[in-house]
Amino acid sequence: METVTLRRTEDSDLPILFEFESDPKAARMAAFPPEASRDPEAFYTHWRQRLASPADVCRTVLVDGHRAGVVMKFEFEGDPSVAYWLGREFWGRGIATRALSTLLEEVRERPLYARVAHDNRGSIRVLEKCGFRKSGRGRRFASARGEDLDEFVYRLDRS
Ligand SMILES: CC(C)(COP(=O)(O)OP(=O)(O)OC[C@H]1O[C@@H](n2cnc3c(N)ncnc32)[C@H](O)[C@@H]1OP(=O)(O)O)[C@@H](O)C(=O)NCCC(=O)NCCS
Repeated sequence: METVTLRRTEDSDLPILFEFESDPKAARMAAFPPEASRDPEAFYTHWRQRLASPADVCRTVLVDGHRAGVVMKFEFEGDPSVAYWLGREFWGRGIATRALSTLLEEVRERPLYARVAHDNRGSIRVLEKCGFRKSGRGRRFASARGEDLDEFVYRLDRS
């Protein structure tokens, strides 16, 4: 079985993370990617601020030592929240579930929230498998789809 580990995200990870986040298929799936994911300079600026923020926990996902994506805890509209993003070649192998589970052992704060497009089945399953339960819904502009879209709010209470 391949080894999935997390380590602190570094400046040198940003180019490959930009590559993963600017993948149109992945962006469409996520539906609500940060605006900065389209422009490398904006992406780097945004990420350097994030890496410097004491409230954010950013971890690069390594699969057998290779950079596969990122998992993080950050503040979204005042809620402590999690998010994750893998390069497409790493999808469908249980990696996001293992990566988020590992982050949840490190980040003990509860409740934690996640927001997900209503039709992002993969991400919804990752959250459910890690113990998150649906706690609300909303609707906002999904830049990767060019339209307003329903989203679900998920919440984790137990440690
Ligand atoms: C969403 C994402 C992180 C899933 O990563 P992953 O490593 O493939 O997920 P896992 O392999 O851990 O899969 C977890 C579950 O989701 C299911 N799943 C994964 N992708 C799926 C898809 N596209 N459609 C339906 N189910 C899917 C798996 O079958 C598994 O469920 P099961 O155990 O019941 O069979 C990955 O596709 C990704 O990075 N997408 C682009 C960015 C994104 O959407 N991020 C989340 C924003 S909220």
